[in-house]
Amino acid sequence: MAKNSLTITDNRTGNTYELPIENSTIRALDLRQIKVEPNEFGMMTYDPAYQNTASCKSKITYIDGANGILNYRGYPIEQLAEKSSFLEVAYLLLFGELPTKEEGEQWRHEITHHTFVHQNVLKLMEGFRYDAHPMSQLISTVGALSSFYPDAKDFQDPDNRRLNIVRLIAKIPTIAAFSYRNAMGLPIVYPDNELSYTGNFLAMIKRMASPKYEPNPILERALDVLFILHADHEQNCSTSTMRAVGSSNVDPYSALSAASSALYGPLHGGANEAVLRMLREIGSVDRIPEVIKKVKAGEMRLMGFGHRVYKSYDPRARAIKTLADQVFELTGKNPLLDIALELERIALEDEYFAARKLYPNVDFYSGLIYEAMGFPTSLFTVLFAIPRTAGWLAQWSEMVDDKEQKIARPRQVYLGEAARDYKAVEDR
Ligand code: ACO
Repeated sequence: MAKNSLTITDNRTGNTYELPIENSTIRALDLRQIKVEPNEFGMMTYDPAYQNTASCKSKITYIDGANGILNYRGYPIEQLAEKSSFLEVAYLLLFGELPTKEEGEQWRHEITHHTFVHQNVLKLMEGFRYDAHPMSQLISTVGALSSFYPDAKDFQDPDNRRLNIVRLIAKIPTIAAFSYRNAMGLPIVYPDNELSYTGNFLAMIKRMASPKYEPNPILERALDVLFILHADHEQNCSTSTMRAVGSSNVDPYSALSAASSALYGPLHGGANEAVLRMLREIGSVDRIPEVIKKVKAGEMRLMGFGHRVYKSYDPRARAIKTLADQVFELTGKNPLLDIALELERIALEDEYFAARKLYPNVDFYSGLIYEAMGFPTSLFTVLFAIPRTAGWLAQWSEMVDDKEQKIARPRQVYLGEAARDYKAVEDR
């Protein structure tokens, strides 16, 4: 029978080494024994941007990028998007199983009754400039929450950990909505505990003079589905940040603030905003060939296209495209949709995109729906951060319980100067 191991010959010494293979990986630390001189540090791998390095073992999310498959805890994303709800999915990600009826009701009750934030959080948010980006406000305010809940650092206690997970999932929409109202100069709308998770969020964003806001059930459900699709995506930039920062044993509010910062970048969760700006700049279908030419010349990137893991159609983008039809039936079609559809059609026929396996990702169509639902562009990444909070917390919690994990601390290949003596300023 074939052996589950890898034999390496070091041509510098002629020595051979047999390394065990587990789950198609070798342990990087097993390479350390490979050295020329006994007192040498030993072999490492060099992997900028972790393109081929597994940093953890996880049971949460499975992605098969070649075949466009995404499962949460084994359940296909298409089935969850069709049949589940965001809060149920959050529970699934965090605790590994779909909740029973009682567990689901209890979970919903807990989340609903932690939506309010301390009044001083509001005061803190009032200090932002009138034009502060909602993501900047969210990042800072979530970080500040750690000062309101100093007990959160006792996360080894299971009840305490659960309480702070509940607080974060419950309060993120409140902070997100406050950041929007703040940026718009509108009075704050407090949470309405009679509404669903997404219904309440819509109310906090949209309620004006009327004392009660009745969310449109189609938009409420559409937002819930968008939240399901964005809830987790294994070891992406922000999730790796959550795990790396959390590995120092800092409280989850501080780690989640760092993860949100990672999400804010235009190559990650900021892409949905960038897509809309790009579509607006293109302006009309007849300008698309000119844009494709620029992309192929390396002068610009097609935002919302390409993915580190998916080398076929992103299943989330497919689900969002279907959802868009339902939303546009109600809100009227977003005029930028024609540009997006034509851009996708031309790009998918083009050899440049085919050769690099570039397909629309989750951000390509999500912004069009958000815009049709009346959300301003600056809120798009916040709309991503709300559901991803569940994924970040599930991944953080898994890391905390993983006995193999330690503080994250990559190595480097040093290419700088050899040791030299300090030079006085007059000699430089
Ligand atoms: N438009 C044009 N060309 C692209 C694009 C794009 N959107 N994405 C990748 N390429 C090209 C690169 O120029 C490169 O070509 P080359 O081999 O001729 O140099 C090749 O495809 C591979 O690209 P990399 O940058 O090496 O791919 P990587 O896996 O590092 O990047 C990323 C993935 C960041 C998502 C990239 O595709 C990108 O910048 N996309 C646009 C931004 C975006 O939509 N981000 C959202 C991702 S989804 C999410 O985070 C939720």
